[in-house]
Amino acid sequence: MLKDRIFMARESLGRSSLDALLVTSLTSIRYLTGFSGSDAVLLLTPEGGCFLTDSRYTTQAGSEVSAFPVCEYRNKLDAVSEWLARAGCRRIGFTASQLTVEIHGELAEKLKGAELVALKDELAEIRKVKDQAELALLESAAIKASDALHDILPLVKPGSVEKDLALELEIAMRRRGADDKAFDFIVASGERGALPHGRATDRVIRAGELVTFDFGAIFCGYNSDETVTVAVGEPDPRLRTVYEVVKEAHDRAIEAVKPGIPLKELDRIARSFIEEKGFGSCFGHGLGHGVGLEVHEKPVVSFRSEDVACDGMVFTIEPGIYIPGVGGVRIEDTVVVESSGCRLLTKVSKELRVL
Ligand code: GLY
Ligand code: MN
Ligand code: MN
Repeated sequence: MLKDRIFMARESLGRSSLDALLVTSLTSIRYLTGFSGSDAVLLLTPEGGCFLTDSRYTTQAGSEVSAFPVCEYRNKLDAVSEWLARAGCRRIGFTASQLTVEIHGELAEKLKGAELVALKDELAEIRKVKDQAELALLESAAIKASDALHDILPLVKPGSVEKDLALELEIAMRRRGADDKAFDFIVASGERGALPHGRATDRVIRAGELVTFDFGAIFCGYNSDETVTVAVGEPDPRLRTVYEVVKEAHDRAIEAVKPGIPLKELDRIARSFIEEKGFGSCFGHGLGHGVGLEVHEKPVVSFRSEDVACDGMVFTIEPGIYIPGVGGVRIEDTVVVESSGCRLLTKVSKELRVL
């Protein structure tokens, strides 16, 4: 799998006539080498390359990184520029969004006349489509998180506190084998449900309220992302209607996912249904986003998207309706596009659950 990823990265070297690609993003480095530490640089050339790290990670890199020779540095930029000079690299690509102006300036000085070529994040483009190894890890992360939500549902009742539920969910997830949480969980009850990113607070949940849980696990570097809105006792009929509208928008979009459909069309399908039902102004964000080594990555699923769904692409479908002062509903699943449609990686049923 790494061989294929490195091959695709090398193709981008060829397209820009580069002698080397300087990879500084730890996410991209993990994708290309398997390295999971917190400090490294990868230099990729058309035929070879070098993985550089500091002494804290030399031993770890020795076991994680097999596709490149591992070099240890004391001074990162000196080591990078010396290696590039020795290899005779004159045109060196870097990802513009991932190098500070300060580091760029220092490196340009040390490279003594070699050209630094700013590039778009081509690896992020490549990462939109997942290989089998990635899909297995994404599904494992999603299963751990979904199972953990089932574990804690008995605790969701009148009198429960949002923060306590967030903590219990994190513990349950870790018990299920997650390495970490993917982000600070959203637990938004009652009128706080109108906050699309309402992190858990000390608020006490009352009977008849909806509670939105937006949660995810990290497993072997891969993230999950899922949102479940439940009712604690029978909700107000208006909130039940809002739930049914969001659920139908979610189902319609998921039903439409298949190779060849523009992602902006998925956004349109969900959004036009919500608009038809009179809640258009209550759904401000895009329909979804890619999920992988980062919890938010390409592709974007919104009216702005230029991407078209293809086999192996992974993204979320997460419509919501948010009514300030009243409450809100979001329903989110992460899907992988397959030849005949899509498969859900996230596993909690999205039928309204009245606890
Ligand atoms: N957890 C944030 C989101 O769903 O995008
Ligand atoms: Mn989410
Ligand atoms: Mn999401």
